[in-house]
Amino acid sequence: MHFCASIFTISNVAYSKDELPCKTVDVSLIFILLEGGAMSKLIQIWASCAIGIILIAFIGCGGKKVADSDLSRAAGKVVDNFSNELRNELYTAIEDSGVVWAVRICSEKGPLLSARYSSIPGWSVRRVSIRFRNPENAPDDFEREVLQILENRPANAGDEYFRWTEEGGKKTFRFLKAIKVKATCLNCHGPRDKFSADLRKVLDEKYPNDQAYDFGIDDYRGAYSVKITWPDGKVALDSIMAAKI
Ligand code: HEC
Repeated sequence: MHFCASIFTISNVAYSKDELPCKTVDVSLIFILLEGGAMSKLIQIWASCAIGIILIAFIGCGGKKVADSDLSRAAGKVVDNFSNELRNELYTAIEDSGVVWAVRICSEKGPLLSARYSSIPGWSVRRVSIRFRNPENAPDDFEREVLQILENRPANAGDEYFRWTEEGGKKTFRFLKAIKVKATCLNCHGPRDKFSADLRKVLDEKYPNDQAYDFGIDDYRGAYSVKITWPDGKVALDSIMAAKI
């Protein structure tokens, strides 16, 4: 009986590592009931093991598997929405009102979108960079390590990275997608000696420790960084995949 209980515990841990964290199912009651019954020892052992395995497969894990590829697809979708909305507003602002005015879009809209997507229960979404303009966008240790991995990858190795970590005792799915510099970005992140005096003034006032200039086209500028805390972050998955967010 103890042997079966150990198998159950080991399987339960193995399942919850890669999939949905299993609901705690207390099978000890079933073991006790079987042990107290009139069955032969052999049947007792066989039956309790079988029940344990069935519980693990169908009840204990909620019956549904969430693969890492599903999570990274959902994270990628949120990041694409974030990036499209920011880029559209930025490009329109530059065209309509000029680069200096458009600085406001980046400084207000960026944090606003982060806050909006981070209000999804269990999700946190932001932009990070090693050479940051806003110190709020400085990477944590994990993000710094991954930014370096992404930057040093060969060009054909993909621009995304994900890994499970544990934070504050909770399983956390972390996802980063690299951001590269395009021609329009050079207006505010390119060679500083080409910035107008007005632009330098606005940036100096708002970002006295700015490091986000002197980039060139196709340089790594940073990454979108998503954290999904498990299991809280699961609730929004279906809506995200159905494009409701
Ligand atoms: C009009 C000026 C302007 C343009 C154009 C611009 N940015 Fe920025 N960018 C900023 C400002 C201002 C911030 C600081 C935002 C904040 O306070 O969070 C910023 C922040 C960022 C950050 C967050 C990390 C950090 O340094 O704080 C990234 C990543 C970034 N920009 C990438 C880009 C990319 C990629 C482009 C081109 C598609 C671009 N930016 C175009 C002004 C600009």
